[in-house]
Amino acid sequence: MLTMKKILALVMVAVLALAMVACGSAEKDVLTMGTNAAFPPYEFVDENNNVVGIDAEIAAAVAEKLGMELEIKDMAFDSLITAVSTGSVDVALAGMTVTPERAESVNFSDSYATGIQVVIVTEDSAIASIEDLDGKKIGVQTGTTGDIYCAGDYGEENIARYDNGALAVAALQNGQVDCVVIDNEPAKAFVEANEGLKILDTEYITENYAAAIAKENTELLEKFNKALAELKAEGKLDEIIGKYIKAE
Ligand code: ARG
Repeated sequence: MLTMKKILALVMVAVLALAMVACGSAEKDVLTMGTNAAFPPYEFVDENNNVVGIDAEIAAAVAEKLGMELEIKDMAFDSLITAVSTGSVDVALAGMTVTPERAESVNFSDSYATGIQVVIVTEDSAIASIEDLDGKKIGVQTGTTGDIYCAGDYGEENIARYDNGALAVAALQNGQVDCVVIDNEPAKAFVEANEGLKILDTEYITENYAAAIAKENTELLEKFNKALAELKAEGKLDEIIGKYIKAE
C-alpha cells in the first residue's frame, strides 16, 4: 500500500524531474570564446563594456547556428593558445594567424579573413620601406606574428614588446620605438585614432586568420567549419566584415 510518505516522495521526484527538463530546454549550452579585445575592428571593447567586432559577431553567428550561447573571455593574446589547448575556452577568435607552430598545439578552422603585417611610422619618419627597418627599434604586441617575424628578421635586441597594439602605438608617439609592426586593419584604426602617424606602402607579409580549437575537440571543429561555410554561402560573413571594414 502507498503510504502518504511514499506518495509525497513520488510527487517530489516527479516535480524535480519536471524542473530539470524545463531548465534543460531553457538553458542553452555555452560556447566560450577567448580573445584579446584590443584589436579593432576584429575585437574591441565598446562604450558599454561589451566585446564587439568582426570576431565577436562571427562567433555569435556560429553559436546561434549550433544552438549555443556565446560567452566571451578577454585575455592576453599570448595566453590564447594555452587557454584553447587546456580547455579553459572552447575556441579562440582573435584575428589569429594560422602558423605551423601554433598548429602543433591547436587545430585551426577554415580561414575567414586575411591579414597583412604592415609598418606604422610617424609622418616625419626617415623609414620609407621595409628595407629601412634594419637596426631600428620595432614595437610589437607580445606573441603576435609581428613579434615572431620581426624578432627573427631583425634580432631580439631590436624588438620592444607591449601587451597590446595601442600601447605599442603610444610608444611610437613617445619616441620609444621607431615603428610598429602590426596587422593592417588594426593599423588603420590606430592611425585614424592618433595624430601624426602613417602606414608604409610596403607590406611585410600576408597571412590567414582562423579560429583555434583544441586538438581533441574535432566535433566542434567540424561543426564550426560547417557553420562558417553556411555563413559564407549566405553572405552573412561578408555582411559582418562589411559592417566594420568599409571598402576603399
Ligand atoms: N594576426 C596576428 C597574430 O596572430 C596578431 C593578432 C592579434 N590579435 C589580437 N586580438 N590582439 O599573431
